[in-house]
Amino acid sequence: MQQNCGSRLQLQAIHKRFGHFTALDDIHLDIQPGELVCFLGPSGCGKTTLLRIIAGLEQQSSGRLLQGHRDISMLPPRQRDFGIVFQSYALFPNLSVQDNIAFGLRSLGQPKAQIKQRVDELLALIGLADQAGKYPAQLSGGQQQRVALARALAPAPGLLLLDEPLSALDARVRGHLRKEIRRLQQQLGVTSILVTHDQEEALTMADRVVVMNHGVIEQVGTPEQIYRQPATPFVAEFIGAMNFIDSPRQADGKVRLGATLLDMPQAASQGARVRLAFRPEEVQLLPRHSGGLPACIEQLEFLGTFLRARVRVAGLEPLLTVDVDPRSALHLHLHVGQQLDAHLPTVNLRCYAA
Ligand SMILES: Nc1ncnc2c1ncn2[C@@H]1O[C@H](COP(=O)(O)OP(=O)(O)OP(=O)(O)O)[C@@H](O)[C@H]1O
Ligand SMILES: [Mg+2]
Repeated sequence: MQQNCGSRLQLQAIHKRFGHFTALDDIHLDIQPGELVCFLGPSGCGKTTLLRIIAGLEQQSSGRLLQGHRDISMLPPRQRDFGIVFQSYALFPNLSVQDNIAFGLRSLGQPKAQIKQRVDELLALIGLADQAGKYPAQLSGGQQQRVALARALAPAPGLLLLDEPLSALDARVRGHLRKEIRRLQQQLGVTSILVTHDQEEALTMADRVVVMNHGVIEQVGTPEQIYRQPATPFVAEFIGAMNFIDSPRQADGKVRLGATLLDMPQAASQGARVRLAFRPEEVQLLPRHSGGLPACIEQLEFLGTFLRARVRVAGLEPLLTVDVDPRSALHLHLHVGQQLDAHLPTVNLRCYAA
């Protein structure tokens, strides 16, 4: 199998304006060879625009792009070294599976025998060797997207760009293809960028996640860093579930969480008020009079691997979200209206300016 040599990609001070609207504002990013990076963010935050700029399908207003040692900032798409997969499979309907995959290789003028060998390798790699003669309309959505992936990978590009490639598929196929794309990407060592607004997709697939909002990068980090140490309240709220409690800073620089006075978790905030953040799984519910804050369960939701409770805690606004594992729930006989004690976390709290 022909191995790709994934290339490094550097984005330097990328700005993009559409008229008076700023779609991207001072984007800096350094993607390492063989890395899979996800652009994650809400609709309209600029993910596709940034991907299109990398592909040369859109021109940045200012800024520089380097692929390896090559300045690609002003190059047209066909002179850049990438393969791309879109949300809509965008296969050629009048070409068979094998001809779709071979398309880019033929336009490169490769010899027939070499093209056939490459197409056969890719068909085996995506598990569709027995479907080579079919046409796109005869394939399922998941199969079509695999063909689109093989077509993008066929010329062994140094960079693979994927714009929401799985969002048109149902959950089961999506989960399966996530693993498949990741396996292929690692096997080939191709530097890859996956655009998604699905946080689960980003957290499970990426080496690093780039969280975007309103045209800026809020944070770049490994999935674990993004989840455990969100750099901004936006990231904290966007990734997973989070409880936020606003609290005045005490005279001695401490901060109050319920009945507990805590040392300021981080020196981040200078204001008179701080916003403390903790995750639902970091709160513990125990029987009444166990030394926590008096709490009452207002809602319970069964989510399969855990129960999510909405809990009113004395002295705290708003209601807290608390995740309870099924064993503890059973042990506590968890039910709506139940009076318990909530033990709030006192370590690893996140702290932001309110
Ligand atoms: N050609 C264009 N002309 C004017 N505005 C545009 C153009 N393309 C994109 N925009 C605007 O730029 C912003 C970013 O768009 P973009 O398509 O990059 O968002 P996105 O993060 O990919 O969103 P989604 O998750 O919905 O695909 C949006 O506000 C969009 O309306
Ligand atoms: Mg988009």
